[in-house]
Amino acid sequence: MEHVVPPEAAALLARARRVVVVTGAGISAESGVPTFRDALTGLWQRFDAQALATPQAFEDDPDLVWGWYEWRRSTVRRARPNAGHTAVAAIEARLPGTVLVTQNVDDLHERAGSRDPVHLHGSLLAPRCSGCSRPAPLPDVADEPAEGRRVPPPRCAGCAARVRPGVVWFGEALPQAALDRAVEAAASCDLLVTVGTSGLVYPAAEIPRVAARLGATVIQVNPDETPLDAVAEVNLRGPAARVLPALVAAAWGDTMPA
Ligand code: APR
Repeated sequence: MEHVVPPEAAALLARARRVVVVTGAGISAESGVPTFRDALTGLWQRFDAQALATPQAFEDDPDLVWGWYEWRRSTVRRARPNAGHTAVAAIEARLPGTVLVTQNVDDLHERAGSRDPVHLHGSLLAPRCSGCSRPAPLPDVADEPAEGRRVPPPRCAGCAARVRPGVVWFGEALPQAALDRAVEAAASCDLLVTVGTSGLVYPAAEIPRVAARLGATVIQVNPDETPLDAVAEVNLRGPAARVLPALVAAAWGDTMPA
């Protein structure tokens, strides 16, 4: 069933000139990649973030942490981009100056055709040395672990320290260049579309607020209420893979590939 988009949302996108799209785990949910905070299914409902997503956790039990991220990487590898990712790529194609800022560590945006997403929280596909930060090769697919299996992380070819996942852990700083790009884009856009984020994790959650403070209009796409409801001029309630293609079609009359 086609998602009905209010005409004012379509008009906002149709007349926008400088667009920023901010995405969170919700945009990959319909591809089978679990979010973090959704009841029951969210990763942080099932696993302890402190025991898995902090530098201390890696220090204490590197095999548990590495195994868990390799399991997540295998989930992402088996997933496919959905119509939400495709719609974002369509907005970028239509408005070449569009900046895509994602909190996601998967590569579904890239696989959907987005050329240069700004990954604020790193990537599952960019492991590096925990000692010298030298990029490390991705382990073979054949070695993908089952959920909960401990896997010793490989060693750095340069300094032999442990290789770590290329993601930003709690308590770690975001990559400065990525954060600067996201803030700059938000500060100069006229429309920001935020999709599938709970808006609870900072500094990423500040990006839509920067845009709104500086006069841009914010559209939120989320089946549920979030703290960003108050920042958004338009709240589109529904799943990204249905709402975003409908928004693009309503704005430009392009029917999205199914
Ligand atoms: N379409 C759109 N939104 C959805 C969908 C969907 N199909 N399914 C769920 N959502 C929404 C949920 O309602 C929720 O508001 O996506 C949001 C997911 O929120 P989180 O799980 O908190 O994910 P996110 O906001 O991306 O988390 C931010 O927290 O754990 C850290 O580093 C991790 O990048 C992550 C950050």
